[in-house]
Formats: sequence, C-alpha cells, structure tokens
Amino acid sequence: MLSDKVLNNLPHEIRRRIEPYIEAVQLMTATNNAKVLRSMAPSGVRGLILQRGKQGVPTTMPSHHRVYFDWTYPNDHPEMRELYTRAKEGQWNGDDLPWDIDVDPENPEKPIIPRHFMEYDALRSKGIRLTDLEERRLNASAASWMLSQFLHGEQGALFAAAQVTEAVQFFDGKLYGSTQVVDEGRHVEVFYRYLDSKMNKLYQINDNLFVIIDALIQDSRWDVKFLGMQIMVEGLALGAFGTLYQMTGEPMLKELLKMVIQDEARHVHYGVLALRDHFRNELSESERREREDWAFEVALLMRNRFLMYEVYEEWFEHKLTRKEWAQFVTDSPGFALFREVMFKRLVPNLREIGLLSDRIKPHYQRAGLMQYADGQSATQLSGDQLIADLDAA
Ligand SMILES: [Fe+2]
Ligand SMILES: [Fe+2]
Repeated sequence: MLSDKVLNNLPHEIRRRIEPYIEAVQLMTATNNAKVLRSMAPSGVRGLILQRGKQGVPTTMPSHHRVYFDWTYPNDHPEMRELYTRAKEGQWNGDDLPWDIDVDPENPEKPIIPRHFMEYDALRSKGIRLTDLEERRLNASAASWMLSQFLHGEQGALFAAAQVTEAVQFFDGKLYGSTQVVDEGRHVEVFYRYLDSKMNKLYQINDNLFVIIDALIQDSRWDVKFLGMQIMVEGLALGAFGTLYQMTGEPMLKELLKMVIQDEARHVHYGVLALRDHFRNELSESERREREDWAFEVALLMRNRFLMYEVYEEWFEHKLTRKEWAQFVTDSPGFALFREVMFKRLVPNLREIGLLSDRIKPHYQRAGLMQYADGQSATQLSGDQLIADLDAA
C-alpha cells in the first residue's frame, strides 16, 4: 500500500485518480472474514472501481432470489398482520405536505442544516477561508448531498421491498410488504420533489451506498436481503433522517421527515420480526456467524465511508487531500450526531435478532459501539415514540 507521504508527493491529477482505488482495496481487505470478503468484493469492484452508479442511465442488476407462492393464504404471523393493519391506517399522501412553503437553501434564517453542522474553523487551519456566503452555500451543498443520498437509498429500498415481498415465506409478511412497497414509492416521490423543486440540485449516488445496494439486490438469500435492507440500510436511514429532523430549521422539510420517519419505524420493526426467529431457529451456527460478521462490516462501512466525497470533488479537490476532507467530515458535529442516532437504533436491533453474540461483542467494543447495546429495539418503539424521542433530545 502506498504511504501518505508517497501519495502526497504525487502530481495532483495522478493522486486524484488513484485514491479511489486505494480506498477500494482498503475496503475489501478491512474484513478478515473470507466469506464476507467474497460476498462483498464483486459489489466493491462494481461500485468503487467501475463506479457503475455514475455511468448514466440505466444501471441494471440481475436478481437471483426465489419467489415464494402460497395458494392457501394462511394467517401465519399475527404480529406481521397487526403491522399490516397499522401500515394501512398510517398511509398518507405526499401531495398533502406543505409544498407552498417557500424554501431558499441559502437563507440563514431557516437553514436546511445549521451552521454548526460542520466545523469551519478546522478548514481555516488548512488555509481555507470561506466567506459567509460560501459557508452558507457549502452547507446547502451538504444538505443537497444528504437528501440526494436519501433519495437514491429510497430507490434501493423500493426495489428491495418488492423483492423481499416476493421472497419471504410468511403470507402475512407478504401482505405487510405490499404496504412497504407503497411507502418506499412515496418516499422516492417526496424526496425527489423536494430536491427538484426546493433545492434545485441532485447529486449522483455515493459509491459506497451503491456497493451496499448492489450487494443486497443481487444476493440470492432472502434473509441477507432482509438484513441488508430492513436492518442496516433502514437503520442508516433512520439515523440520517433523525439527525436532519432534529437539526433542520426549514419547516417543510421537518414535516416531510416526520412523516417518513414514522413509516421507516414500521419497516425496521418488520425486519426484526422476520429475522429474529429465522436467525435463532433456522440457521446453523456457521451461517448465523457469517451474517453476524457481514452486519459488523456493513456497520463499519456505514460509519466510515459516507463522507460526502461528491461535495469534496466539487469544492475542494485542488485544496485538500481526500484524507484531510474525510477527517474534516468525520469530526464535524453534524456527522457525530448522525453516527450517534444511527447506532443508537441499529445496535439494539442487531442484539434483538441474535447478531450480537459474545464472539462479536469485542469488535463492537473496539469500534466504540457497545454503549448502544442495551437500548430499545424496533419492536419496542413506535413511530410516534421515535419522534417524541427526537423532539426531546
Ligand atoms: Fe423509505
Ligand atoms: Fe424503508
């Protein structure tokens, strides 16, 4: 591996081209588990090296799951049936959001994300001085980047929810799943409309988000799709939505997020229900361990890799190294809150589905994530409670 010193002495243009490759190799060698590596590596190549998410329309992915039919229509899972009923009652129309509210992404009175989201003093120490207007514009870029990634994640969620509805063996799960497909469609609708009509800026999909979506859309094992989508990506989404909900000063976005968060709380709840029994009763110990390792690696990927490189390329590519930018974003107060909200929700769910055994706990401990292990899981929290929790923080 090239050292930072060697890297920093390379001409800028060459450094710019090889840094993503170095990150790809780091990602693919970070895990010591050969099975996890084998299952993630093809997606890593497609996402990080070939950048398949940035090569124009369309991106196609083959799917390999089995579609499970049942012609007897059993009432086979009362908790999922109840969730289905709640989901029907909780439907809402994206048109009813307050779209007539005027949004100016650069307005300091009602900032999409507050000024202290990023620590601009840290940039000053690198010789970068931004004017007041530039700081506001950079904040607006960061907000557009986050909302764009939400939107791309929602598209992944829409297709994954459809796949999971086909593949799951519980009939009540299929009925519930049909409501989640509608929910995710609505989320794509409202996030796109917000970006298009209020922000006027759409970023391409982040390569690391692409890796995760690519891996779980193509995986033939329904429970890995579930784990990836319903627990990991939905957990990431809840963390990100919750952070923005807490921080935003823009009332239209706050209302939009409040509605979306309540839907997402049901989605994670469903994931926990479906996986809990399956992991505990149906899988062999080595299969369970493989899922446990996979979840840990994806958790680290989510914590360490969503660092707004697309914003960096637009603003600072000639002024900072990628590593300096990564440090700046990692240390920013907004991202610290995001990590906290995300793992506070995610780690208890992993415990609940049986993927936090004594074997893996030291790894979470080293990653600083065990502090969240005793929290409430999705089955213990309604959407209203989640919102109340965020409002109280
Ligand atoms: Fe969603
Ligand atoms: Fe969702």
